[in-house]
Amino acid sequence: MTRKRLDDLRASLRDDALRRGINPRDVDLLLSDLLGRSVAYLYAHGELMVDSAQLDARLARRYAGEPLQYIRGHTEFYSRDFLVDARALIPRPETELLVETAIERAPAHGRVIDIGTGSGCIAISIERERSDLHVLSVDRSVDALALASVNKARLESRVMLAASDVFSGVCGTFDVIVSNPPYVPLSEYEELAVEVRIHEPRMALTPGPAGTEVIERILDEAHARLEPRGCVILEVGYGQEEAIRTLAAEKRYDVDEFLPDLAGIPRVVVLSAHAQPR
Ligand SMILES: C[S@@+](CC[C@H](N)C(=O)[O-])C[C@H]1O[C@@H](n2cnc3c(N)ncnc32)[C@H](O)[C@@H]1O
Repeated sequence: MTRKRLDDLRASLRDDALRRGINPRDVDLLLSDLLGRSVAYLYAHGELMVDSAQLDARLARRYAGEPLQYIRGHTEFYSRDFLVDARALIPRPETELLVETAIERAPAHGRVIDIGTGSGCIAISIERERSDLHVLSVDRSVDALALASVNKARLESRVMLAASDVFSGVCGTFDVIVSNPPYVPLSEYEELAVEVRIHEPRMALTPGPAGTEVIERILDEAHARLEPRGCVILEVGYGQEEAIRTLAAEKRYDVDEFLPDLAGIPRVVVLSAHAQPR
Protein backbone atom coordinates (compact mmCIF):
# COMPACT_ATOMS: atom_id res chain seq x y z
CA MET A 1 0.00 0.00 0.00
CA THR A 2 1.38 3.45 -0.98
CA ARG A 3 0.09 6.08 1.39
CA LYS A 4 0.86 9.70 0.60
CA ARG A 5 -0.21 13.08 1.87
CA LEU A 6 -3.16 14.26 -0.22
CA ASP A 7 -1.61 17.64 -1.12
CA ASP A 8 1.65 15.99 -2.29
CA LEU A 9 -0.25 13.34 -4.25
CA ARG A 10 -2.51 15.94 -5.88
CA ALA A 11 0.42 18.14 -6.87
CA SER A 12 2.37 15.31 -8.52
CA LEU A 13 -0.67 13.79 -10.27
CA ARG A 14 -1.84 17.19 -11.54
CA ASP A 15 1.66 17.90 -12.96
CA ASP A 16 1.69 14.48 -14.59
CA ALA A 17 -1.76 15.06 -16.11
CA LEU A 18 -0.70 18.45 -17.53
CA ARG A 19 2.38 16.89 -19.11
CA ARG A 20 0.11 14.34 -20.83
CA GLY A 21 -2.29 17.01 -22.09
CA ILE A 22 -5.06 16.06 -19.65
CA ASN A 23 -6.98 18.68 -17.64
CA PRO A 24 -5.64 18.51 -14.02
CA ARG A 25 -9.21 18.98 -12.82
CA ASP A 26 -9.83 15.37 -13.96
CA VAL A 27 -7.35 14.24 -11.28
CA ASP A 28 -9.28 16.18 -8.64
CA LEU A 29 -12.59 14.65 -9.73
CA LEU A 30 -11.20 11.10 -9.70
CA LEU A 31 -9.63 11.75 -6.27
CA SER A 32 -12.92 13.11 -4.97
CA ASP A 33 -14.69 9.94 -6.22
CA LEU A 34 -12.04 7.80 -4.51
CA LEU A 35 -12.49 9.58 -1.18
CA GLY A 36 -16.25 10.03 -1.52
CA ARG A 37 -15.77 13.74 -0.82
CA SER A 38 -16.26 16.96 -2.76
CA VAL A 39 -13.39 18.64 -4.64
CA ALA A 40 -13.65 21.53 -2.14
CA TYR A 41 -12.97 19.01 0.65
CA LEU A 42 -9.74 17.93 -1.10
CA TYR A 43 -8.51 21.53 -1.18
CA ALA A 44 -9.18 21.95 2.53
CA HIS A 45 -7.71 18.63 3.75
CA GLY A 46 -4.25 18.35 2.19
CA GLU A 47 -2.92 16.67 5.35
CA LEU A 48 -5.00 13.49 4.83
CA MET A 49 -3.07 10.30 4.13
CA VAL A 50 -4.37 8.59 0.99
CA ASP A 51 -3.72 5.20 -0.61
CA SER A 52 -3.29 6.15 -4.26
CA ALA A 53 -3.15 2.58 -5.66
CA GLN A 54 -6.89 2.47 -6.35
CA LEU A 55 -6.55 5.56 -8.49
CA ASP A 56 -3.95 4.06 -10.81
CA ALA A 57 -6.31 1.99 -12.97
CA ARG A 58 -8.69 4.92 -13.42
CA LEU A 59 -5.89 7.32 -14.30
CA ALA A 60 -4.47 4.80 -16.77
CA ARG A 61 -7.88 4.70 -18.53
CA ARG A 62 -7.96 8.50 -18.63
CA TYR A 63 -4.41 8.70 -20.00
CA ALA A 64 -5.37 6.12 -22.65
CA GLY A 65 -8.02 8.60 -23.87
CA GLU A 66 -11.25 7.30 -22.29
CA PRO A 67 -13.62 10.18 -21.49
CA LEU A 68 -13.71 11.14 -17.82
CA GLN A 69 -17.51 10.75 -17.71
CA TYR A 70 -17.34 7.08 -18.74
CA ILE A 71 -14.65 6.39 -16.13
CA ARG A 72 -16.69 8.10 -13.40
CA GLY A 73 -19.89 6.45 -14.72
CA HIS A 74 -22.02 9.54 -14.38
CA THR A 75 -22.32 13.18 -15.37
CA GLU A 76 -24.46 16.20 -14.63
CA PHE A 77 -27.02 17.43 -17.14
CA TYR A 78 -29.65 20.08 -16.50
CA SER A 79 -28.82 19.87 -12.76
CA ARG A 80 -29.45 16.14 -12.52
CA ASP A 81 -27.04 13.24 -12.28
CA PHE A 82 -27.23 10.82 -15.24
CA LEU A 83 -25.47 7.46 -15.45
CA VAL A 84 -23.35 7.25 -18.58
CA ASP A 85 -21.38 4.52 -20.28
CA ALA A 86 -20.25 3.49 -23.74
CA ARG A 87 -23.83 2.52 -24.73
CA ALA A 88 -24.76 6.18 -25.31
CA LEU A 89 -23.37 9.61 -26.10
CA ILE A 90 -22.14 11.66 -23.14
CA PRO A 91 -24.67 14.50 -22.62
CA ARG A 92 -23.14 17.81 -23.73
CA PRO A 93 -23.73 21.16 -21.99
CA GLU A 94 -24.96 22.81 -25.23
CA THR A 95 -27.84 20.31 -25.38
CA GLU A 96 -29.33 21.99 -22.29
CA LEU A 97 -30.47 24.76 -24.66
CA LEU A 98 -32.62 22.21 -26.50
CA VAL A 99 -34.22 21.16 -23.22
CA GLU A 100 -34.81 24.77 -22.16
CA THR A 101 -36.46 25.56 -25.51
CA ALA A 102 -38.73 22.51 -25.39
CA ILE A 103 -39.78 23.32 -21.82
CA GLU A 104 -40.72 26.87 -22.88
CA ARG A 105 -42.51 25.80 -26.06
CA ALA A 106 -44.52 22.75 -25.00
CA PRO A 107 -48.21 23.52 -24.39
CA ALA A 108 -49.81 22.44 -21.11
CA HIS A 109 -50.42 18.67 -21.02
CA GLY A 110 -48.83 18.37 -24.47
CA ARG A 111 -47.32 15.31 -26.09
CA VAL A 112 -43.56 15.37 -26.67
CA ILE A 113 -41.32 12.89 -28.49
CA ASP A 114 -37.51 12.80 -28.14
CA ILE A 115 -35.97 11.07 -31.16
CA GLY A 116 -32.55 9.52 -30.45
CA THR A 117 -32.80 9.65 -26.68
CA GLY A 118 -29.40 8.07 -25.87
CA SER A 119 -28.94 8.26 -22.09
CA GLY A 120 -32.44 9.77 -21.85
CA CYS A 121 -31.02 13.11 -20.71
CA ILE A 122 -33.29 15.33 -22.87
CA ALA A 123 -36.58 13.48 -22.38
CA ILE A 124 -36.10 12.88 -18.66
CA SER A 125 -35.05 16.51 -18.03
CA ILE A 126 -38.11 17.82 -19.91
CA GLU A 127 -40.47 15.48 -18.06
CA ARG A 128 -38.95 16.21 -14.64
CA GLU A 129 -39.29 19.98 -15.20
CA ARG A 130 -42.78 19.74 -16.75
CA SER A 131 -44.65 16.87 -15.12
CA ASP A 132 -47.83 17.86 -17.03
CA LEU A 133 -46.25 16.66 -20.31
CA HIS A 134 -46.50 13.18 -21.82
CA VAL A 135 -43.00 12.40 -23.02
CA LEU A 136 -42.03 9.52 -25.29
CA SER A 137 -38.35 8.65 -25.79
CA VAL A 138 -37.20 6.63 -28.77
CA ASP A 139 -33.89 5.34 -30.07
CA ARG A 140 -32.74 2.89 -32.73
CA SER A 141 -30.15 1.56 -30.30
CA VAL A 142 -31.52 -0.92 -27.77
CA ASP A 143 -28.29 -0.55 -25.79
CA ALA A 144 -28.94 3.17 -25.40
CA LEU A 145 -32.55 2.47 -24.41
CA ALA A 146 -31.35 0.09 -21.68
CA LEU A 147 -29.23 2.90 -20.22
CA ALA A 148 -32.10 5.40 -20.57
CA SER A 149 -34.32 2.98 -18.68
CA VAL A 150 -31.86 2.92 -15.74
CA ASN A 151 -31.78 6.73 -15.71
CA LYS A 152 -35.56 6.85 -15.89
CA ALA A 153 -35.81 4.64 -12.79
CA ARG A 154 -33.09 6.49 -10.83
CA LEU A 155 -34.60 9.88 -11.56
CA GLU A 156 -38.17 8.67 -10.98
CA SER A 157 -39.28 9.83 -14.40
CA ARG A 158 -42.50 8.85 -16.15
CA VAL A 159 -41.10 9.03 -19.71
CA MET A 160 -42.12 6.14 -21.97
CA LEU A 161 -39.32 4.37 -23.86
CA ALA A 162 -39.56 2.62 -27.21
CA ALA A 163 -37.25 1.20 -29.84
CA SER A 164 -37.86 3.07 -33.07
CA ASP A 165 -36.05 4.07 -36.22
CA VAL A 166 -37.13 7.75 -36.26
CA PHE A 167 -40.97 7.45 -36.14
CA SER A 168 -41.30 3.93 -37.54
CA GLY A 169 -42.06 2.23 -34.21
CA VAL A 170 -44.49 4.79 -32.76
CA CYS A 171 -47.99 5.97 -33.53
CA GLY A 172 -49.85 9.19 -32.81
CA THR A 173 -49.12 12.88 -33.11
CA PHE A 174 -47.07 15.30 -31.02
CA ASP A 175 -47.07 18.94 -29.96
CA VAL A 176 -43.28 19.02 -29.76
CA ILE A 177 -40.83 16.83 -31.65
CA VAL A 178 -37.40 17.25 -30.14
CA SER A 179 -34.14 15.69 -31.24
CA ASN A 180 -30.40 15.89 -30.87
CA PRO A 181 -29.77 13.61 -33.85
CA PRO A 182 -26.45 12.30 -35.10
CA TYR A 183 -25.30 15.15 -37.34
CA VAL A 184 -21.56 14.82 -37.99
CA PRO A 185 -20.78 14.31 -41.72
CA LEU A 186 -18.82 11.10 -42.32
CA SER A 187 -15.70 12.99 -43.51
CA GLU A 188 -15.66 15.04 -40.28
CA TYR A 189 -16.30 11.94 -38.17
CA GLU A 190 -12.94 10.56 -39.28
CA GLU A 191 -11.34 13.78 -37.98
CA LEU A 192 -12.99 13.73 -34.53
CA ALA A 193 -10.79 13.53 -31.44
CA VAL A 194 -9.85 9.92 -30.67
CA GLU A 195 -11.53 10.34 -27.28
CA VAL A 196 -14.87 10.80 -29.06
CA ARG A 197 -14.42 8.55 -32.10
CA ILE A 198 -13.07 5.48 -30.28
CA HIS A 199 -15.21 5.63 -27.18
CA GLU A 200 -18.63 7.08 -28.07
CA PRO A 201 -21.11 5.12 -30.23
CA ARG A 202 -20.70 5.80 -33.94
CA MET A 203 -24.48 5.64 -34.43
CA ALA A 204 -24.83 8.56 -32.03
CA LEU A 205 -22.43 10.74 -33.98
CA THR A 206 -22.71 10.30 -37.72
CA PRO A 207 -25.73 9.42 -39.85
CA GLY A 208 -23.80 9.32 -43.16
CA PRO A 209 -21.94 11.42 -45.74
CA ALA A 210 -24.06 14.59 -45.52
CA GLY A 211 -24.58 14.71 -41.76
CA THR A 212 -28.23 15.68 -42.29
CA GLU A 213 -29.65 12.22 -43.14
CA VAL A 214 -31.56 11.72 -39.86
CA ILE A 215 -32.65 15.38 -39.77
CA GLU A 216 -34.08 14.97 -43.29
CA ARG A 217 -36.02 11.88 -42.24
CA ILE A 218 -37.41 13.65 -39.19
CA LEU A 219 -38.54 16.60 -41.33
CA ASP A 220 -40.07 14.33 -44.00
CA GLU A 221 -42.03 12.31 -41.47
CA ALA A 222 -42.90 15.08 -39.00
CA HIS A 223 -45.59 16.58 -41.26
CA ALA A 224 -47.81 13.59 -40.47
CA ARG A 225 -46.82 13.62 -36.78
CA LEU A 226 -47.23 17.26 -35.75
CA GLU A 227 -50.31 18.70 -34.09
CA PRO A 228 -51.55 21.84 -35.94
CA ARG A 229 -49.57 24.35 -33.87
CA GLY A 230 -46.76 21.93 -33.06
CA CYS A 231 -43.05 22.44 -33.61
CA VAL A 232 -39.86 20.53 -34.30
CA ILE A 233 -36.86 21.51 -32.15
CA LEU A 234 -33.49 20.23 -33.32
CA GLU A 235 -29.90 20.53 -32.19
CA VAL A 236 -27.62 21.01 -35.20
CA GLY A 237 -23.88 20.96 -35.78
CA TYR A 238 -21.29 23.69 -36.11
CA GLY A 239 -21.61 25.33 -39.54
CA GLN A 240 -24.94 23.64 -40.43
CA GLU A 241 -27.22 26.69 -40.16
CA GLU A 242 -27.42 27.39 -43.90
CA ALA A 243 -27.94 23.73 -44.81
CA ILE A 244 -30.75 23.47 -42.26
CA ARG A 245 -32.43 26.67 -43.52
CA THR A 246 -32.32 25.27 -47.08
CA LEU A 247 -33.68 21.89 -45.98
CA ALA A 248 -36.44 23.54 -43.95
CA ALA A 249 -37.60 25.55 -46.99
CA GLU A 250 -37.45 22.48 -49.28
CA LYS A 251 -39.42 20.42 -46.81
CA ARG A 252 -42.06 23.12 -46.14
CA TYR A 253 -41.11 24.36 -42.67
CA ASP A 254 -40.79 27.90 -41.33
CA VAL A 255 -37.73 28.65 -39.20
CA ASP A 256 -39.26 30.22 -36.08
CA GLU A 257 -35.88 30.81 -34.45
CA PHE A 258 -32.24 29.76 -34.55
CA LEU A 259 -30.72 29.96 -31.09
CA PRO A 260 -26.99 30.31 -30.36
CA ASP A 261 -25.28 28.27 -27.67
CA LEU A 262 -23.01 29.87 -25.05
CA ALA A 263 -20.16 29.94 -27.59
CA GLY A 264 -22.36 31.92 -30.01
CA ILE A 265 -22.73 28.96 -32.41
CA PRO A 266 -26.22 28.57 -33.97
CA ARG A 267 -27.17 25.38 -32.20
CA VAL A 268 -30.92 24.93 -31.79
CA VAL A 269 -33.52 25.48 -34.47
CA VAL A 270 -37.28 25.70 -33.93
CA LEU A 271 -39.36 24.81 -36.98
CA SER A 272 -43.08 24.87 -37.63
CA ALA A 273 -44.81 23.26 -40.59
CA HIS A 274 -46.16 25.56 -43.32
CA ALA A 275 -49.88 26.01 -42.76
CA GLN A 276 -50.83 24.63 -46.19
CA PRO A 277 -48.82 22.03 -48.12
CA ARG A 278 -47.90 23.36 -51.58
C1 LIG B 1 -26.31 12.70 -30.75
S1 LIG B 1 -26.96 11.29 -29.92
C2 LIG B 1 -28.04 12.09 -28.76
C3 LIG B 1 -28.21 11.33 -27.47
C4 LIG B 1 -28.96 12.15 -26.39
N1 LIG B 1 -30.26 12.54 -26.85
C5 LIG B 1 -28.15 13.37 -26.02
O1 LIG B 1 -28.51 14.48 -26.41
O2 LIG B 1 -27.12 13.23 -25.34
C6 LIG B 1 -28.05 10.66 -31.16
C7 LIG B 1 -28.89 9.44 -30.76
O3 LIG B 1 -29.73 9.11 -31.89
C8 LIG B 1 -29.80 7.71 -32.01
N2 LIG B 1 -30.15 7.43 -33.41
C9 LIG B 1 -29.33 7.43 -34.50
N3 LIG B 1 -30.03 7.17 -35.61
C10 LIG B 1 -31.34 7.00 -35.22
C11 LIG B 1 -32.54 6.70 -35.92
N4 LIG B 1 -32.55 6.51 -37.25
N5 LIG B 1 -33.69 6.60 -35.21
C12 LIG B 1 -33.68 6.78 -33.86
N6 LIG B 1 -32.56 7.06 -33.14
C13 LIG B 1 -31.41 7.17 -33.82
C14 LIG B 1 -28.44 7.21 -31.57
O4 LIG B 1 -28.48 5.87 -31.18
C15 LIG B 1 -28.13 8.19 -30.42
O5 LIG B 1 -28.56 7.65 -29.19
